[in-house]
Amino acid sequence: MTLRLIEGGRSGADTPGLLIHGAAQIATLAGGLRRGATQGDLALLDADAFGGPGASGAPVVACWEGRVVGVGPRDRIEAALEANGYPIGRFARLDADGGVVTPGLVDPHTHLLFAGSREGELVLRQQGAGYMEILAAGGGILSTVAATRAASADDLAAHGRRWLDEMIRHGVTTVEAKSGYGLDLPTELRLLEVAHALGKEGPVDVIPTFLGAHAVPQEYRTRPHGTEAYVRSVIEEQLPGVAAQGRAVSCDVFCEEGVFTPDQSRRILQAAAGYGMTVRLHADELAPSGGAELAAELGALSADHLHVPSDEGLAALAAAANGEHPTVATLLPGTTWFLMTGDAAPARRFIDAGVPVALGTDFNPGTSPNPNLPLVMTLGCLEMRLSPAEALAAVTINAAFAAGVGGEAGSLEPGKLADVVIWRTSTVGQLPYWVGADLVDIVVKRGRVVYRRGA
Ligand code: NIG
Ligand code: FE
Repeated sequence: MTLRLIEGGRSGADTPGLLIHGAAQIATLAGGLRRGATQGDLALLDADAFGGPGASGAPVVACWEGRVVGVGPRDRIEAALEANGYPIGRFARLDADGGVVTPGLVDPHTHLLFAGSREGELVLRQQGAGYMEILAAGGGILSTVAATRAASADDLAAHGRRWLDEMIRHGVTTVEAKSGYGLDLPTELRLLEVAHALGKEGPVDVIPTFLGAHAVPQEYRTRPHGTEAYVRSVIEEQLPGVAAQGRAVSCDVFCEEGVFTPDQSRRILQAAAGYGMTVRLHADELAPSGGAELAAELGALSADHLHVPSDEGLAALAAAANGEHPTVATLLPGTTWFLMTGDAAPARRFIDAGVPVALGTDFNPGTSPNPNLPLVMTLGCLEMRLSPAEALAAVTINAAFAAGVGGEAGSLEPGKLADVVIWRTSTVGQLPYWVGADLVDIVVKRGRVVYRRGA
């Protein structure tokens, strides 16, 4: 891969290298999954410790053909690059201008693709209606399903581009995207195909997840044993079709009192695992429903929401955290905030128990019409008492593991994708501090500048 020279160097030429310099701080997040006492370990390089951002030994990030090849003091990195056959003249220079440099953010939980909007439900909830009550009356997820079934692939792709563009402007370079507003095979396949195509189109990487078990569709609700009949159709009709299509990387289930039981969720997820998909769950969002326990039992990549886990569920995730397949607790404080629950998931209990914590937007038309992951970091700090550093790890390295791309994204270390954000703040602590502000200056995806403020 080559990139257009963006400034400095041999202007106008194509070059495979990029050297990001002039940063006040580089949060590398190198060193793998964070949990417990390491949740807030940013593996931070502070230019002040090297004589300031302009010093010859100030920290830089070097990228080559879309991958990181070196992070550290400029003089040493440049010498190492030359010595290893990366001619320094072939690196375009990108000046961070005294800003902060982080890995591209990873949003590990979104319902990116849907049609329509549900602003009326906000008012209904203000008047006292419950989320499940609205769903049971045929609104909620079911109203989005009706709109989505009627939407063409082109409509859905246009919607997806619009919101991915918002996400990139907030520093996000990788997004997990669930289906789940089709609840029939043709629409679920359409959603997964569009998610896959948007990732191919770039610049944001999109990881498609099959969420056929998001709700019981209207046409099954009037049937006797309708939920069970729908579970069988997910396992016997939808999953084989989804597996044959080959777009879904992962499978999710809304395991919740009044939606799908742990037993039904287990059957669906075990069938998905049989097709080679990774598994994840909407767990304990509205009531303790056995979701955390099931996630640990299945070695899920991620258990999401966890607003009201049971003590047993928390203990099961803590035990899994010490095993070979730790399940990441992906917490979604933007959702509890938008649902006006008055509280948030018990993040500190997870951290104290050694469970790795990630944060996601849960972008969707019902409970979180919010594409802004840095705002979710702020909510993580305010509503969950995460430190700013813990929140940053939760949207980078831990989010990458939750999304199943821990080996590729989420940190700045040699071999990983050159996905980088330059922020116009002078400390990482300011990222969640300037509430709702537009702090992203430049986004680099796979070694190319894909967003620049004002450009
Ligand atoms: O994660 N709870 C299930 N799914 C979404 C909401 C979907 C919707 O309301 O459209 C969530 O909160
Ligand atoms: Fe969700």
